[in-house]
Parts: sequence; structure tokens; C-alpha cells
Amino acid sequence: MKIQIINGPNLNLLGTREPGIYGSSTFEDYLKKLRAQYSDVEIDYYQSNIEGCLIDKMQEVGFDVDGIILNAGAYTHTSVALQDCIRSLKSPVIEVHISNVHKREEFRHKSMISCACMGVICGFGMDSYRLALEAIKGSK
Ligand code: DQA
Repeated sequence: MKIQIINGPNLNLLGTREPGIYGSSTFEDYLKKLRAQYSDVEIDYYQSNIEGCLIDKMQEVGFDVDGIILNAGAYTHTSVALQDCIRSLKSPVIEVHISNVHKREEFRHKSMISCACMGVICGFGMDSYRLALEAIKGSK
């Protein structure tokens, strides 16, 4: 089984970025644990701060992998281009957020991409990614 994790803008700063909201672990440290826990799953990881690069990556892998776990960061709330991209792919996409966006500012309550995704997981800290992986596994 092959899963692609894609993180959007500012998620390269996990560990130091607003630790009260996003925790103090880097994504690389979390990924090591996730890969060890799911040694039977090939987990690829990509991060970019650039909207078009996220789209390029999704188009590159989105016809082959068993699922894409996408944390689009702030582009979640703005990007019609990401929504269109998700709709064009064959692989299912799960939208994830580390924080519970519904407990935060109102502009974070609206997602431009949820309607094109298989499902949404938010508010469980880094564990949101593992829960998304389980959801993809369970759907197979
Ligand atoms: C986030 C929530 C977004 O609103 C925010 O812009 C992020 C991170 C999360 O994982 O909780 O960058 O996607």
C-alpha cells in the first residue's frame, strides 16, 4: 500500500510554529514514528509553501497512490485551484488539520477543499495523519 502525505504552507515550521496550537514535534520526527508503526505501508512525504507546487505533486502521484493525506494549511480556506485538482485525481484525498479549525477564527471554518475530499479529520494533533491513514486502509 502506498500513501502520499502532502503538507502545505508553514507546516515546514512544525515544532517551532505556535507550539501551543500545533505541538512541539517536528513533522520529520512524527513521520519516523508513523513509518515505524506502519512498516507495511509505503509513506511518501512532500511539503511546499507554494500552491502550484502542491498541485504539481498531487497531479504527479494522484493516479497511482492508494491515498493522499493533505494538510493544505491556509490554502484550505482559499484555494479553488486545489479543489479542482482534487476533483481531477483518481486517488482519494483526505483533508487533515492538526488543530480543530472549528474552534478557531471564523475564517478557518470554511474549507474550499472538503467538498472534493473523501473525508476530513481535524483536531487530533499530529495523530490526525495516522487517523487519515487508518481511514484510507479501512476503505480498501
Ligand atoms: C492547519 C489549520 C489551518 O487553518 C492553518 O492555516 C494551518 C494549519 C492545521 O493543521 O491545523 O496552516 O491546516
